[in-house]
Amino acid sequence: MRIIKVDATKSTNSLAREWFQANKSTPAVCFVARDQTLGRGQRGATWVSNAGENLTFSILFPNPGIPINNQFTISAAAGIAVLEVLKLLNINKLKLKWPNDIMAASYKIGGILIENSLSNGRIDSLVIGIGLNVNQTEFIDLPKAGSLKKLTGITYDLDELLQAIIENLERIILQLKSSSVSLKILQEYENVLFRKDVASTFQLNDGKLITGVIKGISSTGLLKVQVEDTIKTFDLKELKLLF
Ligand code: BTN
Repeated sequence: MRIIKVDATKSTNSLAREWFQANKSTPAVCFVARDQTLGRGQRGATWVSNAGENLTFSILFPNPGIPINNQFTISAAAGIAVLEVLKLLNINKLKLKWPNDIMAASYKIGGILIENSLSNGRIDSLVIGIGLNVNQTEFIDLPKAGSLKKLTGITYDLDELLQAIIENLERIILQLKSSSVSLKILQEYENVLFRKDVASTFQLNDGKLITGVIKGISSTGLLKVQVEDTIKTFDLKELKLLF
């Protein structure tokens, strides 16, 4: 896949989207920035990353040919693709915190922001944006943030790591055109789900705290939480896991 490297940009996700708008018949392409000045995260958060120390990149898949109801599967697949590469680097205790935070030993080492555009009831373009903390070791005011180097002491080659992730991601995204793979991905996702079967505290969007046990996810990616004797399902806007 073609890789376009930029020194600085607001957000590689935005860059990918702009590229698609200007080149509708583009092949898949990856944008990687040494520095993002306005990196975006989930739930309207910002994504902050020291310039040149980590990976901040987005892959644009034009017309991915994936059914529209498989949107959560795409997100799960992206998380699994990254985890598989990190596993090969012997990073321990890797998990995905719902929906797709990349965790290692209870530290958040990466995040994924997926943005689709839809046209005529199908996914017209798919942008998978990944921020992975690699060689940064200081995280000011972010006690739950970690990086590969913080975990292993090793300084990693960013280009090599990027190449490995792109290849694995491309392989998995191609497979998602088939719905049987989708099921397999959701099962794999549940196997690596952070704090599954463990009592946890959640904050609901009215600020109320509840205790529950994560049991898995629904086929559309809602989180299944056992609260007392009932299994309840929640979407991303409804609750936040405190840990
Ligand atoms: C999250 O955990 O909140 C998701 C973070 C996603 C960050 C990446 S960095 C590359 C791409 N460009 C962005 O602006 N965001 C994603």
